[in-house]
Amino acid sequence: MSIEFCHQAVMLAEVTEVLRDLPSGVVVDATLGGGAHSEALLNANENLQIIGFDRDQDALNAARKRLSHHGERFIGVHQEFQHITEVLASFGHQGAAGCLFDLGVSSFQLDNPQRGFSFRHNGPLDMRMDPSMQLTAADVVNNYDRAVLKDLLWRNAGEKNAQRISAAIIAARPIATTQELAETISDALPAAVKRRKGHPARRTFQAIRIEVNQELSHLESAVKQALSLLVPQGRCAVLAYHSGEDRIIKRCFREAANAPTPKRYALPPDPQKTATVRLLWSGARKPDAAEIVRNPRCTAARMRAVEKLETDT
Ligand SMILES: C[S@@+](CC[C@H](N)C(=O)[O-])C[C@H]1O[C@@H](n2cnc3c(N)ncnc32)[C@H](O)[C@@H]1O
Repeated sequence: MSIEFCHQAVMLAEVTEVLRDLPSGVVVDATLGGGAHSEALLNANENLQIIGFDRDQDALNAARKRLSHHGERFIGVHQEFQHITEVLASFGHQGAAGCLFDLGVSSFQLDNPQRGFSFRHNGPLDMRMDPSMQLTAADVVNNYDRAVLKDLLWRNAGEKNAQRISAAIIAARPIATTQELAETISDALPAAVKRRKGHPARRTFQAIRIEVNQELSHLESAVKQALSLLVPQGRCAVLAYHSGEDRIIKRCFREAANAPTPKRYALPPDPQKTATVRLLWSGARKPDAAEIVRNPRCTAARMRAVEKLETDT
């Protein structure tokens, strides 16, 4: 079955504003998805060239189709973003003028029941962004021991009922589908918790997806590579969708800006270190109310951005 790529790019105007006017050089879209952000950037600046990464071949195919009319200005690569430096080098680039990370899953992935990402559609327990990888959600749900499961529900999604949910999952094994998993979680929770906003299985699904795709393991390395590749005045923007991701970005950016603490507790910069970037604004920007109404999936988005300083010596 062929499914149309349907994903509304998040904070598109803000991303375009930050990455439109860059020094000459290639721009990296580390999480291409269907290519909506890339498309806007290519349209906004006719001198810009983009190398886009996605680990999902279906997303990459959709982006290639969408951006083919830009000819050589767009190159799509089926690769994980932790390989940015080597992939850029393979195309003859030692640096980058800009870099965008729009983390997490796309609506295209979430809304395809066969990919098994969502508690809203029944499908196999899969959740792999790259279906050639080994570990699936079924492996996590049916084989991890209880303590490990409980720990990852808390660590990856802050699930306060991790203990109850992990016990219920173990008791219900084997679990084969997203619907069975969603019902197991829902049945394990007290009525008061189920009355709260949001689906009771949301955090568990998020935590398992992060585990299956090892989403946090390589993020720091990829962002650090991007910062080091940036040419002077080059910019890096990141959209994160949960606190675990955003904490990693905040730490990487603050360390590179030699601004290790939030402004309100500001300590003086460390005299032993030299800032290599400046924060384009303090804290994280959020989507405005109108965008949240249009696209409720963007509600959790947090955008941070930095600009490379003239010298990093
Ligand atoms: C939120 S979507 C991006 C949507 C995109 N900005 C657009 O305009 O359509 C995130 C994409 O990043 C991809 N992705 C997530 N982690 C990745 C990684 N480590 N390496 C490469 N791609 C990744 C996912 O497969 C997904 O297609």
